[in-house]
Amino acid sequence: MGRAKITIVGAGNVGATTAHWCAAGELGDIVLLDIPQTEDMPKGKALDLMEASPVMGFDSNVTGTTSYEDTVDSDIVVITAGLPRKPGMSRDDLLATNAKIVTSVTTAVKETSPDAILIVVSNPLDAMVQQALRVSGFPPARVVGQAGVLDTARYRTFLAIELGVSVEDVSALLMGGHGDTMVPMPSCTAVGGIPIRRLLNEERLAEIVQRTRDGGAEIVGLLKTGSAYYAPAAATAQMVEAIVRDKKRVIPCAAYCEQEYSVGGYYVGVPVVLGTGGVERIIELELDAQEQSDFQTSVEHVKSLVSTMADLLQAE
Ligand code: NAI
Ligand code: 2OP
Repeated sequence: MGRAKITIVGAGNVGATTAHWCAAGELGDIVLLDIPQTEDMPKGKALDLMEASPVMGFDSNVTGTTSYEDTVDSDIVVITAGLPRKPGMSRDDLLATNAKIVTSVTTAVKETSPDAILIVVSNPLDAMVQQALRVSGFPPARVVGQAGVLDTARYRTFLAIELGVSVEDVSALLMGGHGDTMVPMPSCTAVGGIPIRRLLNEERLAEIVQRTRDGGAEIVGLLKTGSAYYAPAAATAQMVEAIVRDKKRVIPCAAYCEQEYSVGGYYVGVPVVLGTGGVERIIELELDAQEQSDFQTSVEHVKSLVSTMADLLQAE
């Protein structure tokens, strides 16, 4: 099999850093695309990254462009195009602008890479991935959103710091939308196989869960000029790897849930099996009463976001 062709739309912080992780992991050949107004910027970033390859020892061609012609027949298209958050902004404040951007990007991708798997990263995530599904008309298995890998990574990081253990031994699950209503799942959190509640009291665990929910805002508050990108890009590259290498990773992604969890046709974070077919399976867990109630609150938030987006797009 030849190398995978991976297009990353949006050559900003998340897009370029995703290209970096994907190239370093030799996941395929990478095309980095941005809008014509950015002129040669994507070419510059791509060439700079390619020039790191002899030093770091990776074989990936990285090219930059502002033309979809160069992205034809991509296997995977990652959409990071859009505005990031600034201090004081919520992810939802980005709704109207980014919905238009994701619509135009998806329209172009549908024409040029009709068989691709789309990984949407632009915020507000759950609404943007729903819009990408609608505009592309692709099967839901081929349109997936990145949020849960990042949010879970933050949760795992904070737990590892708290307990003074390796992050590698902290495994966890987080469900729901990518927003303040996300649902970290202590019942599915373990350290070296030991359930987290045997290692940490409820009060401290609740504080870590809250820090996880606020994880995006914490970075925005520190950076002041934009939002997080190293961890978001690493999370996205992990999803690319799962697909390119058909790893059947069990990871939380924003997946289209119809009867699953009784969601009724919306994107929300759930554990999935991610492989060469995209979202190959959604894993349905029995939730306890609190988890079910928190998950429902999160789903309601996603629904209202999607409904506001539909109103805004109609008003155009
Ligand atoms: P950035 O501002 O550094 O980069 C965005 C890039 O998109 C810019 O280079 C811009 O020119 C480009 N762009 C705008 N319109 C475009 C179009 N129509 N076609 C192609 N490119 C276009 O922003 P950053 O930090 O890279 O964030 C990108 C998006 O990802 C934001 O919406 C941000 O909120 C979101 N994000 C989502 C995360 C998640 O977990 N789902 C995590 C981090 C960021
Ligand atoms: C994050 O969680 C802003 O969604 C972005 O960092």
